[in-house]
Amino acid sequence: MKGIVLAGGTGSRLWPMTRVSSKQLLPIYDKPMIYYPISTLLLANVREILIICTPQDLRSFQELLGDGSELGISLEYVTQSSPDGLAQAYILGEKFLNGESSLMVLGDNIFYGASVGRELTNNIPKSGGHIFTYIVDEPSRYGILEVDSSGRPIGIEEKPVEPSSNLAVTGLYFFDERASEFAKQAKPSSRGELEITSVISKYLLLGELTYTSLGRGTAWLDTGTPDSLLEAATYIAIIEKRTGLKIACLEEIAFSSGWMDESMLRRRITKLGHGAYARYLESLL
Ligand code: G1P
Repeated sequence: MKGIVLAGGTGSRLWPMTRVSSKQLLPIYDKPMIYYPISTLLLANVREILIICTPQDLRSFQELLGDGSELGISLEYVTQSSPDGLAQAYILGEKFLNGESSLMVLGDNIFYGASVGRELTNNIPKSGGHIFTYIVDEPSRYGILEVDSSGRPIGIEEKPVEPSSNLAVTGLYFFDERASEFAKQAKPSSRGELEITSVISKYLLLGELTYTSLGRGTAWLDTGTPDSLLEAATYIAIIEKRTGLKIACLEEIAFSSGWMDESMLRRRITKLGHGAYARYLESLL
């Protein structure tokens, strides 16, 4: 299975913070935001990843992350010149996907919880579509999944005025090899975007959509506004300080998965200088 991180967009709700820098490069406590969604893919055992960003941010992403070989993973890049919707990722990524299934995560979505890795590796089916829902207090801000009395998915609506449930569709999507074809069939919505809900609806209509409701022990954090950005950073800081363990430390995941050996980790430490992050990596040795 391949992975996509969609890190485009103008981040306009965070202006002026994101006037000249990509939202997904802003720090969440001690590391750039994009580390978190990348870690979600790595925890799902996906290490062939396409990063989609704006043309103006491409150099920064490449400078930060390179081709992934330092981590024993593979990173490729493609640009999205205008934010025309999440489903466009499957059109831009068609060549990269090369007829394979994929797990896509939005570059500003943070998932944290003891069972996240397990839920990802155990629940993702071989084919069809699979989404991850999370109970939220303000459903009209998200894509919402409607379910029948036995919990079967029966509808999906983007930012409903009168939400049929409080099950938000999080920014983590598994689709089989048909995703690009379904994305090409999607029509722009009233806000002019190729909505991801169009692709999800295709699988739903075919009776091939399943979902995992992420449990209460999982945190799904938002980073769309100055407040939610600050809250996410505070949340990460509290957990990291309490446990002495880092969340979304890509080197740690790669090292413990055996993708990075000791000499690769040592090279990384040298590159990262003498700050707290590098010292944490030293402790892994
Ligand atoms: C997008 C999706 C929405 C989903 C949300 C999760 O919304 O369109 O279905 O619930 O991400 O972060 P947007 O961030 O584009 O408003």
